[in-house]
Amino acid sequence: MEKYVILGGAKLEGEVEISGAKNSAVALIVAALLVKDVCIIENVPAVSDTYVLIDIINQLGGRAEFIDKGVLRIDGSSLNCFEAPYEMVSKIRASSYLMGALLGRFRQARVAMPGGCDFGVRPIDLHLKGFVSLGAEYTVEYGFVDIKAEELTGASIYMDKVSVGATINVMMAAATANGQTVIENAAKEPHIVDVANFLNSMGANIKGAGTDVIKIKGVEELHGGTYTVIPDQIEAGTFMIAAAATGGDVLIKNIIPKHLDSISAKLAEMGVVIEEYDDSIRVKGTESLKKANFTTMPYPGFPTDLQPQMLTLLTAANGTCIVTENVWDNRFKYVEELRRMGAIVSVDGRTAVVEGGNRLMGSPVSSTDLRAGAALVIAGLMADGVTEIYNLKYIDRGYENFEQKLRALGAQITRRRDGEKVRTVTPA
Ligand code: EPZ
Repeated sequence: MEKYVILGGAKLEGEVEISGAKNSAVALIVAALLVKDVCIIENVPAVSDTYVLIDIINQLGGRAEFIDKGVLRIDGSSLNCFEAPYEMVSKIRASSYLMGALLGRFRQARVAMPGGCDFGVRPIDLHLKGFVSLGAEYTVEYGFVDIKAEELTGASIYMDKVSVGATINVMMAAATANGQTVIENAAKEPHIVDVANFLNSMGANIKGAGTDVIKIKGVEELHGGTYTVIPDQIEAGTFMIAAAATGGDVLIKNIIPKHLDSISAKLAEMGVVIEEYDDSIRVKGTESLKKANFTTMPYPGFPTDLQPQMLTLLTAANGTCIVTENVWDNRFKYVEELRRMGAIVSVDGRTAVVEGGNRLMGSPVSSTDLRAGAALVIAGLMADGVTEIYNLKYIDRGYENFEQKLRALGAQITRRRDGEKVRTVTPA
């Protein structure tokens, strides 16, 4: 089993280049299947979720391959299967996008119930309600969702809850429906806009993405083309928090600063110096972090995907801090691991209370999901002594070259097989 070995205490300093957004790329890769043509997607991160989707496309009869660094060629013309079995789909939550893409393309889809990180219940009722509004029928039996539509017809759809996945799925299915679809209470995350821009560049007619109301006028057919994935807001936020957590000074490059407003504001409130440029942000840490509270919300609120990283930073703040998780029912599992490192955090339902100012101590811990893994890396960088982090498969799902990027900033982090000696880790 592989693990990270981190010697804490080094300040992160220098520049880091942010990769393409994982959560956008996974949607675009699947959306490319709507097209009976070749799509070239640039700035695709080389993370394991991307490779899982490449495998799925190839198994479904399409062709997907990297033709250059970050450049993925997807040829959906030969796609001949609308069934995605459990072995493929259980590995990745984004496989739920196959429902919208295959339904849009073939007017039918048979997809095993999707997997992904476990934050409690992860329903797909909103996706299914959206498809039904467009004229589809579905059954859920023996672990599969079967969806069929004689015809897809535009409709008015009000999302009872803001859902990234359901918004994207409905946009995909509605892109070639007859007539206009209106999604109200739509998600506004940067990757919603990216998916809409991608589909528009392929011939779709989608307006309003990034607002509460998205209007999709169905078109006859979509065509291929070339598109570039936006920078990863969550990777950028992770590095911003890591810089602050180590009292470092890091220029985070190749980003859209607007996407990071909620993180910049929270860090500034804690006394961290944030300098914004056109496509980069410089983060300069402070010796004395002020306490802060935060609540996760759909975009433009504070992202749930940075909740574990930010909570970890709060363990170094001067005072008691309150974190409220408003998106998922159970996204505090990792707190148990932070406690092993000496963090004083109590959790009650969707609220965590962090007693700041208690220095973390290196210890063996395990990632419980992707962002929790990143949070534990930040904890390891902050801690006294050596931290070993297990279950790296989660971190590998979403962070491209994570340890290499951290090492280039001065972090003492190495990836090792369990059992290998750790003596080459040298003090900072
Ligand atoms: C996306 O998941 C992201 N994944 C998640 O990031 C992220 O945490 C989440 O959005 C929220 O921002 C991808 O983009 C691949 P949702 P998604 O549908 O689309 C409820 C990461 O770490 N809901 O917006 O699955 C649901 O239970 C990952 O990169 C329903 O009730 O999330 C949750 O409480 C983890 N019914 C809320 O909505 C539904 O049909 C938001 O979920 C669908 C969702």
